[in-house]
Amino acid sequence: MKVAIIGTGYVGLVTGTCLAESGNDVTCVDNNPNKVALLHGGGIPIYEPGLAELVARNARRAARVHDRPGRRGPGRAARVHRRRHPQSDAGDADLTAVFAVADAIGAALRDAPPGPPGARVVVTKSTVPVGTNAQVAERLAAAGAPHVDVASNPEFLKEGAAIEDFMRPDRVVVGTRRPEVSEVLRELYAPFLRTERPFLVMSPESAEMTKYAANAMLATKISFINEMANLCDRLGADINDVRKGIGHDQRIGFPFLFPGPGYGGSCFPKDVEAIIAMGRRTALPLKLMQAVDAVNDAQKQVLFTKIQQHFGAALAGRTLALWGLAFKPRTDDIREAPALALIDALLGAGVRVRVHDPEAMANVRALYGDTLYYADRPYGALEGADALVVVTEWPEFRNPDFEVMKRLLTGRVVFDGRNVYEPRPMEALGFTYYGIGRGGRK
Ligand code: UDX
Repeated sequence: MKVAIIGTGYVGLVTGTCLAESGNDVTCVDNNPNKVALLHGGGIPIYEPGLAELVARNARRAARVHDRPGRRGPGRAARVHRRRHPQSDAGDADLTAVFAVADAIGAALRDAPPGPPGARVVVTKSTVPVGTNAQVAERLAAAGAPHVDVASNPEFLKEGAAIEDFMRPDRVVVGTRRPEVSEVLRELYAPFLRTERPFLVMSPESAEMTKYAANAMLATKISFINEMANLCDRLGADINDVRKGIGHDQRIGFPFLFPGPGYGGSCFPKDVEAIIAMGRRTALPLKLMQAVDAVNDAQKQVLFTKIQQHFGAALAGRTLALWGLAFKPRTDDIREAPALALIDALLGAGVRVRVHDPEAMANVRALYGDTLYYADRPYGALEGADALVVVTEWPEFRNPDFEVMKRLLTGRVVFDGRNVYEPRPMEALGFTYYGIGRGGRK
């Protein structure tokens, strides 16, 4: 099939590359000329395991990446300013870019002759509020392209595992009322659904809602376990035992029940806010979602509170080492990362901060400049520090040389924001150890 992908962010670049890998003729378009130049030169704009190799292979074979699909083409008209957090102040999703692209596609197809149903399908993969696909269809018609079908096809990939998630999805969700359109998408996804994973066809509204409901449920699990962990801390219970104790109940299960310093990233914070906004607009206050959001905001302060309680009035002037800055491992993405809230609080309290992250340092440097010390290696961050804070659970932090750590870390205090170490062995090694919900009454 011939596929044009508008936008080469996480979803666009992964989708385009995987569709090229399965034999389609893919053209990726982006309104950022630097990104396009980078892609032409064989680079990719994000860190995502396996993606660079796959882009390189398919850029030679099938995919073409260019920024000028035609005088009135979407790449040209879609030159709109994208905000870092595509959300209005009230939490509503900012659809400026989506509508700009819809208008541009409509204009580009104005003179195209009508084809049979399903001949030209505009697929929305962005997470958009319920009703947006209907608005996209209206805009296409208003722009003079009434013979174009619109389908919702939410993407569920996770950063750090994006290719695996695309190639082996748990399910594919397609929102359309026209069987011809769902058949086009069924054919496109067939190579990825060999393992009997379901291809679910529903209305565009239900498909749009499915994406929000999935992210809302996952965010709820995280805020739930974080609240339980905080209670464990106060009552002397160990959340890790409790997690196992509940996870073996198949109705509950294990995934997404790891406590930590709060969820971050480009999806959960934005989508929880957006679903709250959808409720507000329909006069239905979503109390659970508001609580999930509030618990997460508070959780981003949990590490700082533990640090403050440990050092007391002597916190100002201390030096702290941070391991992990990305919002999760295997990405360089720092959007809404808990590490940023912690850095802000530490700097505000007069603490010197030394940081290390395997991939996200350049992004953090762009925000903080020389206010932080950037260590090329994990141990470099520890030198002369009063304490270590593990903020992101990169695999390389799981089994450090504890003797080296003890030598470098003046204070021998570890705040483990991801529970990667065990309290008792850490204490036996001579560290003062704080986990999240590990029952320390600390
Ligand atoms: C998420 C959804 O998982 C994905 O389906 C959707 O398409 C986009 O949003 P992503 O944001 O890439 O993906 O990361 P995810 O692995 O879901 O983690 C989100 C945040 O939750 C991270 O900050 C992570 O550290 C945190 N998290 C996750 C926890 O704190 N505990 C957990 O048990 C799981």
